[in-house]
Amino acid sequence: MANVTFSSPKIKKDITVYATAGDCKTLLATARANNIPVNFECENGECGSCAVEVVVLSSRQPMGMHLTEKEKTALKLAGKISRQQIEDAELKDVPPPWRLACQYIVRDEDILVKF
Ligand code: FES
Repeated sequence: MANVTFSSPKIKKDITVYATAGDCKTLLATARANNIPVNFECENGECGSCAVEVVVLSSRQPMGMHLTEKEKTALKLAGKISRQQIEDAELKDVPPPWRLACQYIVRDEDILVKF
């Protein structure tokens, strides 16, 4: 089980939902299943409208890090990720702060999602 806490000026207070490990749901699917108003359009990693900030709350090595090529491209176009952050993610397992909710797979780790 992972606690996924959503925080935004668009909601009255932070909302924490429980995601079951192994569901392989995207962060966007988790948000939508819980009526949390994360922006989205294409749901396919192309428009960048679902960009969210993800903070890993556990002290373990972050798990949900893999960036798809689409995610890299959309985040670069939106100015949400640098070449260095992509390199750090790929070579040093350092997660970038911004992710696409429609591409990010929720793992068994507690995260804070700001949107
Ligand atoms: S909804 Fe378009 S990139 Fe996620």
